[in-house]
Amino acid sequence: MKKTSPEVLPAEGGLGNEPLLAVDNLHVEFRTRAGVVHAVNGVTYSLNPGETLAVLGESGSGKSVTAQAIMGILDMPPAVIPKGEIRFRGTDLLKLSEDARSQVRGQRIAMVFQDALSSLNPVFTVGWQISEMFRVHRGMGKKEALTKAVELMDRVRIPAARQRVNDYPHQFSGGMRQRIMIAMSIALDPEVLIADEPTTALDVTVQAQIMELLAELQRESNMGLILITHDLGVVADVADKIAVMYGGRIVENAPVHDIYKTPAHPYTKGLLESIPRVDQKGQDLYAIKGMPPNLLDMPTGCAFHPRCPYRQDICVTEAPALSGISGTRSSACHYWREVLDGTHE
Ligand SMILES: Nc1ncnc2c1ncn2[C@@H]1O[C@H](COP(=O)(O)OP(=O)(O)OP(=O)(O)O)[C@@H](O)[C@H]1O
Ligand SMILES: [Mg+2]
Repeated sequence: MKKTSPEVLPAEGGLGNEPLLAVDNLHVEFRTRAGVVHAVNGVTYSLNPGETLAVLGESGSGKSVTAQAIMGILDMPPAVIPKGEIRFRGTDLLKLSEDARSQVRGQRIAMVFQDALSSLNPVFTVGWQISEMFRVHRGMGKKEALTKAVELMDRVRIPAARQRVNDYPHQFSGGMRQRIMIAMSIALDPEVLIADEPTTALDVTVQAQIMELLAELQRESNMGLILITHDLGVVADVADKIAVMYGGRIVENAPVHDIYKTPAHPYTKGLLESIPRVDQKGQDLYAIKGMPPNLLDMPTGCAFHPRCPYRQDICVTEAPALSGISGTRSSACHYWREVLDGTHE
């Protein structure tokens, strides 16, 4: 194995005052022929051991690009990171050598990908694919690695793991294949797991089971978990806190219960009002009016202003900073007080 300077790798001991993972004012652009795509425009969020952060936002809001930046798997170019820090145990990953970074990627910070179901290789058995993690990263022999694969399949509650270890991906249901992907992601005991829309392709019952599995695995290992989703309903029961993204920025940060009861950003409020509720059957479903912002030509001021029922002149000219509204909450809205009160003109 190539040598790396040990001083640049994030420490493994106590955390002091540092969060486990802190994304700080992160910007990511894609320089394309059509122009500069402003995909991430100052994202700030943090995660502690044992904590679950849900990152919520509609399609194209920059959730996956932020995750790819944390993992260090963006293609650069076209991607450029002009500003920001991603601190893992206090060390800015963006300043590490590729060599040091690759020792963090997949091993200490792991990810379950958005297109997980298609990322299993159809020509290898699932046991072979899971045990590859141990062969490649831990230098285990075939037999030992396969034993570990069966253990992991048990851990992600795949029934009859020992009998099924030599089956191929197509012999498993969608939910079971997702469990296999999760098994691979936790194989090396990561300190942070990022799950990018882990349940999008699954039916509602299986979605709930996968969420429960992630929560259980987290309780067993105390890892920090980032759950990316565009569905507020899916994460309500498992998340501790929520970061809401709009146009590549965090517009609201809050403990999960506060956000459901009293959203402090008009976009969050719109998202909550657009969730179907069984107690309001037959009523029209609210939809946030207008279109997501054009990332090639962002609106001036607050990116949400063209769609916002609270809009005033200042919203068109001045982008509101994400600022604290209480010890645990922050909102990027000039009129967060009015939103909290539920009033608007
Ligand atoms: N390689 C790329 N080149 C140009 N633009 C890109 C590239 N990758 C992503 N983008 C753009 O960056 C923006 C943010 O994308 P991202 O994948 O983070 O969205 P998302 O919030 O994960 O959405 P979804 O819910 O659909 O997964 C999108 O507008 C996307 O088109
Ligand atoms: Mg995505």
